[in-house]
Amino acid sequence: HAADAHRTDLMTITRFVLNEQSKYPESRGDFTILLNHIVLGCKFVCSSVNKAGLAKLIGLAGEINIQGEEQKKLDVLSNEVFIKALVSSGRTCILVSEEDEDAIIVEPSKCGRYCVVFDPLDGSSNIDCVVSIGTIFGIYMVKDDHEPTLADVLQPGKQMVAAGYCMYGSSCTLVLSTGKGVNGFTLDPSLGEFILTHPDIRIPKKGKIYSVNEGNAKNWDGPTAKYVENCKFPKDGSPSKSLRYIGSMVADVHRTLLYGGTFMYPADKKSPSGKLRVLYEVFPMSFLMENAGGQAFTGKQRALDLVPTKIHDRSPIFLGSYDDIEEIKALYAAEG
Ligand code: AHG
Ligand code: MN
Ligand code: MN
Ligand code: MN
Repeated sequence: HAADAHRTDLMTITRFVLNEQSKYPESRGDFTILLNHIVLGCKFVCSSVNKAGLAKLIGLAGEINIQGEEQKKLDVLSNEVFIKALVSSGRTCILVSEEDEDAIIVEPSKCGRYCVVFDPLDGSSNIDCVVSIGTIFGIYMVKDDHEPTLADVLQPGKQMVAAGYCMYGSSCTLVLSTGKGVNGFTLDPSLGEFILTHPDIRIPKKGKIYSVNEGNAKNWDGPTAKYVENCKFPKDGSPSKSLRYIGSMVADVHRTLLYGGTFMYPADKKSPSGKLRVLYEVFPMSFLMENAGGQAFTGKQRALDLVPTKIHDRSPIFLGSYDDIEEIKALYAAEG
């Protein structure tokens, strides 16, 4: 039974990535080592999240981060774990975290060729009520011809070599793309291994769901308002769409990837750049969407073409099924 194959022929994430990388003769296994350290961070955060209520890990840490947000204890803990795991991999040179004002430059003795941008704990507002949260990461590679600098991370998202997220949901799921499709792995807690359970994820060409914080509607621009209006009152006789909004980007994007539809965090009058951060939220998710056959649009351009000027830059984002994003693009084009 093909569907049962994974029960005995275990395609762990390490085996999967080693297989993928073996197609490149120049591969030295560095990416696999880096990924193993990211996976370790995900497993640690997963186990912390699962016992947060018992281990006194719910609630505030007492500091305000660079985003002006109150840090939760799990934001701080996850950030520390990922930084230590990434630095100790010996494969990274520059790290950008949502929780740290400045980029982290890895000391020369532990320096490698990869830059990792990450949101250690996404969906902080959902921690204390035990709703799904996640970790998002994107990976750039520094070319051999120069010493790493901040310019190596202020690159358009299309230059990423890999991106992914881990969702701490009803099961722990890691979704990864190295630029050739998207694959999903589920943590088998008894093995402590991520096993390939969602090979070659393709987002449906058109969806039946839209996902947005409608509480901001009074401040939206015309095209966003019109699109959401069309979802509720379609003019072409098609059924109205369902609204789903969890408030954790990882969980909302994961559902969008599997079921189709749109996820958006548009600009509004109060936040003309939207809320989500380009490097470690918008880019990795846009990279995954495109690799799954969907699209990611900022309201002006393809999201992966954006060139960030500062590490914590924000951008409006519309991502999801190919046809649905076409509809949004047409509304923005009509606006001029
Ligand atoms: P984070 O918890 O990493 O700061 O990110 C929160 C983000 C994202 O997960 C989610 O899509 C969005 O904030 C929700 O924002 P609203 O509460 O404004 O809807
Ligand atoms: Mn935050
Ligand atoms: Mn986030
Ligand atoms: Mn976060």
